[in-house]
Amino acid sequence: MPSRVLAIDGPAGSGKSTTAAAVAEQLDLPHVESGALYRAITLAGLDAGVELGGQRLVALARSLPIRLDLTDAGFRPEIAGVDVSQEIRSARVTARVSEVSAMAEVREWVNEEVREAVARHPRGAVLDGRDIGTVVFPDAVLKIFLVADPVIRARRRLLQDGRVPDPDAVASEVEALERRDAYDSTREVAPLRRASDAVVLDTTDLSFEQQVRVIVDRARNLFP
Ligand code: DC
Repeated sequence: MPSRVLAIDGPAGSGKSTTAAAVAEQLDLPHVESGALYRAITLAGLDAGVELGGQRLVALARSLPIRLDLTDAGFRPEIAGVDVSQEIRSARVTARVSEVSAMAEVREWVNEEVREAVARHPRGAVLDGRDIGTVVFPDAVLKIFLVADPVIRARRRLLQDGRVPDPDAVASEVEALERRDAYDSTREVAPLRRASDAVVLDTTDLSFEQQVRVIVDRARNLFP
């Protein structure tokens, strides 16, 4: 395992992937977003019209194939050579991805792909997900667990999607986030939980720049 592996985990809408991308850029490391693979395999299953079962989905992922391609801009999710970084964010994928990510076979396949992607980059990487610090890289040098008030998370999510955070939209987004959190935290395989050696970072009252700086400073202290 490369020495500079940073794990950033946390619930839906905690800002993991935007934070991990900015941290990676400042540390000049690639960013690996594990959620992108869960989303890509869900998208592939929906497009193929197959029943969303673990073994079937993994066979499909291997045959297409689905992979993380290392570009100048970092790792990019691809299905059969086509960049799917936008399509994996669609509402139809978001609606089914928790169900797919609860399947043990799917999790094994994603973990293999993620570890392989990191191995291709010997300087290290910044990874984000739900189980990076607990399962995928339990020996990561720095583990961050991001948390934030659900209303703040909902507002950030709406703004990120270019929607207006009016009270009704915020209330329904809070409900959707909490539903996904409950599902991700109570599933049998690799549930969302904080690693015992993770640093908890509550970003409720932090600006984006502040939360990135806290993580970058900690990383620089560990490997100047
Ligand atoms: O971070 P995200 O919203 O793109 O994640 C999509 C889904 O994948 C979400 O339901 C949780 C799941 N996921 C996971 O179980 N483990 C990971 N390491 C990353 C994502």
